[in-house]
Amino acid sequence: MSYPFQISSKADYEDDYKRSVEEPEAFWADVASNFSWSKKWDKVLDWNFEEPKIKWFEGAQLNITENCLDRHLEKRGDEIAYIFEPNNPEETVVKFTYKELYTEVCRTANMLKSLGVKRGDRVCIYMGMIPQLSIAMLACARIGAIHSVIFGGFSARSIADRLEDAQATFIITCDAAYRGEKQIFLKNIVDEALNLYPNVATVLVYERTGIDITMQEGRDIRWQDAIIGMDNHCPAEQMEAEDLLFILYTSGSTGKPKGVVHTVAGYMIWATYTFVNVFQYHQGDIFFCTADIGWITGHSYIVYGPLCAGATILMFEGIPTWPDAGRFWEVVDKHQVNTLYTAPTAIRSLMSHGDHHFEGKDLSSLKVIGTVGEPINEEAWHWYHKNVGKGKSPIVDTWFQTENAGIMITNIAGVTDAIPSWATLPLPGVQPFIVDEKGNESLADEDGITTGNLCIKFPWPGILRTTYRNHKLCRENYFSTYPGNYFTGDGCIRDAKGNIKITGRVDDVLNVSGHRLGTAEIENAINTHPGVIESAVVGFPHDIKGQGIFAFVICNNDTVDIKEIEKTVANAIGTLARPDKILLVNGLPKTRSGKIMRRILRKIAEGKINEMGDTSTLIDPSVVEDIIARNV
Ligand code: WT7
Repeated sequence: MSYPFQISSKADYEDDYKRSVEEPEAFWADVASNFSWSKKWDKVLDWNFEEPKIKWFEGAQLNITENCLDRHLEKRGDEIAYIFEPNNPEETVVKFTYKELYTEVCRTANMLKSLGVKRGDRVCIYMGMIPQLSIAMLACARIGAIHSVIFGGFSARSIADRLEDAQATFIITCDAAYRGEKQIFLKNIVDEALNLYPNVATVLVYERTGIDITMQEGRDIRWQDAIIGMDNHCPAEQMEAEDLLFILYTSGSTGKPKGVVHTVAGYMIWATYTFVNVFQYHQGDIFFCTADIGWITGHSYIVYGPLCAGATILMFEGIPTWPDAGRFWEVVDKHQVNTLYTAPTAIRSLMSHGDHHFEGKDLSSLKVIGTVGEPINEEAWHWYHKNVGKGKSPIVDTWFQTENAGIMITNIAGVTDAIPSWATLPLPGVQPFIVDEKGNESLADEDGITTGNLCIKFPWPGILRTTYRNHKLCRENYFSTYPGNYFTGDGCIRDAKGNIKITGRVDDVLNVSGHRLGTAEIENAINTHPGVIESAVVGFPHDIKGQGIFAFVICNNDTVDIKEIEKTVANAIGTLARPDKILLVNGLPKTRSGKIMRRILRKIAEGKINEMGDTSTLIDPSVVEDIIARNV
């Protein structure tokens, strides 16, 4: 398979970028012509950012799994789609050719149908990083069901909230997941979630570890039993271009996670186009993305993008530090990986374990290495470049968001230049627009540097279409702050050549180990503790996690145990949201209108109490003294 839309030189990039802006419809129609459709579109793009209404390839019909699987079968059916590296290095590696993956997806799709799943139903998936997770997603897509994958680190409460919001009636899980030396008891957590939200008819359980679980008669079904006798072929439901492919929940500045909606055609094109271009993927290369499929990176770069491109994907079940911090390098060596795509938090963590973990590991197969999820600091960038890239493999620093479907701003491996800790240039189709607080376009200073909030002013095929069952929320969150633009929530600077550096969130959203968490969500969780009156959460710089969570909490008595508050948060959201520091305080710095001045709390959390700035608008400035005195 060749990719006619693959950018191969700087001039190519510039031409394509220009054309994508001047003639977006013709540009994307050309890209789309390389995919398989059962009916061509009537109109390439119809949009406004006021409602917002965004429709790509209206009138077209397709099934994304025919693009991921069927169309590769004839010529490339015996090539490897997935190499599965289990958590335990002693366990046998499992490989799926495209033909085998096709058969597994069809059998699974038939099983889902036999269990009553229909087109348009929402199916929740809560599994570990095993091939059956990808197979479950593809099986849903095959029959037109809408999947909503929930990361295995979320708690029962979080699952219940998402099930309810998605009005899901079917859930697919595992008995348990292996994670390093631990097991995560997924089925037990699902059982707990269903005590909170019982409106789920069926729980399909893939047996991964064989631990004892309770199966509820009439509700719970074992995957390995139900699949027996299923047919190896399943007709692909023909979907409208704008039918929902999946819902993926993500945190924002409001208290509740939002169900970001992506639709079939635009998502497929964006995931594939960005995969092939950013990593400069060539047929036969082995691509290793370390993200969990529970996040957008996993959806787009472990499942849909690479499969549409007919790539060979390495899927890893475990964690980077088990059995030791050399595991990634061992996996790269063992499978002769060509592209490694990981997160700054993993890089920083491995860096802290020492360079001896590289000893005896052959990383010479690597051609491209990438990072995603948070700003990468220069020290980590150089360490990654020197030790993993051996000074020669280009690093792609890829910026995007759940709402974007795939990579938006990045250098292109070996084609455009990398700059340490800069995401650099927008991909074709991405039109950045930088605004000041008032929403006016930011202007360049004398040095040609533009600073401000990052917006995108024109739709690309992978832009979110709505937030599930709440279009108003979508409008308010992304399209109202700076009318006429999609607002990312990130701050940035741009140099005179158009390179962009992402400086981090400008809203009340934290990025903890690459996990996105709203401060309001964590505060709501803390406040459910009966001993808590009020709380305020801010981020602070953390060596490994990027940002840590600092909670200032007012309690109604002196006996509240901090450990109990931690547990409350872990139960409400998941352990990923557990505060790094909880400080019990008597009051919070508030303005006369009752607003908490987070700026002050951030300075305290950062230990920069001399940079507090003006505190004269506080009702009671002595509150600040009191907090500082307690923060020892
Ligand atoms: C937020 C989106 C992208 C998939 C995983 C996270 C931050 C992401 C970068 C980068 C600086 C980055 C932004 C963004 N972010 N990539 N290369 N450099 N910051 O997806 O959970 O939707 O989070 O992650 O702040 O808004 P997400």
